[in-house]
Amino acid sequence: MSIRKIYGAVATGLVAGLLSANAADPDVSKIPPAADKQGVTYAADIKPIFEKSCFKCHGPDVEKPKGKFKADSVANILKGGENAPNVVPGDIKKSTLLHAVALITDPDDVMPPKDNKAKIPPLTKEQVALVRAWIEQGAK
Ligand code: HEC
Repeated sequence: MSIRKIYGAVATGLVAGLLSANAADPDVSKIPPAADKQGVTYAADIKPIFEKSCFKCHGPDVEKPKGKFKADSVANILKGGENAPNVVPGDIKKSTLLHAVALITDPDDVMPPKDNKAKIPPLTKEQVALVRAWIEQGAK
């Protein structure tokens, strides 16, 4: 193998490594453990969190929801946005919404967006733990 070919192979490997370290293969071990609560539901547990932290941009009254994603009902969440699916019941690896709120995704994809004008802060660890429990319990 020529030196140039070796460099090429190394560069390709690096790029592939960088890509795979991204959203495609999130490090789910960094997500806070699921809340202990059983019977977590959107109506009782998740909606109040999303109302405060997400509805400004993904709520029922937003004419053009960001990323075409509406967070106002289980049906809309499971339908997902431009890059659906965003929540896959029972599968935290495929649930990009969880990666976004747990801040384990590309910084540009973090939700709520960093430094958003509305100054909506990131979810707390406890809130992320509830979102995780909700998804693991089937996103009802
Ligand atoms: C200040 C506005 C704002 C807030 C608040 C906000 N988002 Fe977003 N959201 C965006 C924007 C903008 C995009 C589109 C990003 C892009 O296209 O690069 C987006 C995209 C998304 C997507 C990806 C949709 C897709 O399929 O492409 C999801 C999921 C999401 N947001 C979830 C949430 C959740 C959950 C919250 C609350 C915890 C939240 N967002 C809060 C602005 C916001």
